[in-house]
Amino acid sequence: MNSQTTVKLGKRLSQLENMLEQSYSIIWDCCCDHGLLGMSLLHKKLADKVVFVDILAHQMALLEQDLQRRFPADKPNWQVICQDVKELKIPQVESQLFVIAGVGGDKTVEFIDSLCEALPGMPFDLLICSVQGNYPVREALIRHGFSMKGEEIVYENKRFYEAIYVTKKPGPIITATGSSMWDWLNPDHQNYWQKILGHYRKKALADPLRFRSIVDDYESLLASANITAEVMPIFKEPNQG
Ligand SMILES: C[S@@+](CC[C@H](N)C(=O)[O-])C[C@H]1O[C@@H](n2cnc3c(N)ncnc32)[C@H](O)[C@@H]1O
Repeated sequence: MNSQTTVKLGKRLSQLENMLEQSYSIIWDCCCDHGLLGMSLLHKKLADKVVFVDILAHQMALLEQDLQRRFPADKPNWQVICQDVKELKIPQVESQLFVIAGVGGDKTVEFIDSLCEALPGMPFDLLICSVQGNYPVREALIRHGFSMKGEEIVYENKRFYEAIYVTKKPGPIITATGSSMWDWLNPDHQNYWQKILGHYRKKALADPLRFRSIVDDYESLLASANITAEVMPIFKEPNQG
């Protein structure tokens, strides 16, 4: 390993990297932009090959140059593809990981759907960190039969993220609200829970049929944690004064 290939990751991408439990034959850094996470995984030799995918042609040309400079001897170990993730031609091989980070929930769900369609009946892993909309993302994962490998709440640059590592094999269930990631004694997590609940309560006012059950899910999550407002003053209902 040399300093030219070392990549400095921020808190969110480091968290994603640290969650990985194994190496892969192919890691796809989907929506890679500058390709930081993929480069770090390449540097750590966590895959036989890392494929960088993004639709931005100019950014992919720059990334190709950067990779050639940093990893010249490893050329066969990486590839840059300028394409929509939904149009990828994916080889039918085992041991593939797709990283989907830094895009919205709707897009993340579209990518999950299209990857499942491209690899029917094949096990593969996903490492997801959507910028919002984690509830529908988790619903899509449940619908497609993924199981949980690990989940964490990440707070970076005043934003909350959920880092979700799953596999398309039977295993621990995924819940739509998240489960093991919540540390109810952590004020950041309390704050995050309140933010999500506030968001869905507002939506439920406009469209109760669609959103009331989501509000119920997040409320019962806290109820099952046995936390009282006296112990956690942050859990006061909004608008109570
Ligand atoms: C904010 S960057 C995320 C970079 C990195 N993954 C991260 O989490 O820091 C989002 C990237 O998604 C790319 N993107 C959006 N839709 C895409 C699609 N359908 N196919 C491929 N890339 C897409 C954009 O071009 C952009 O570079």
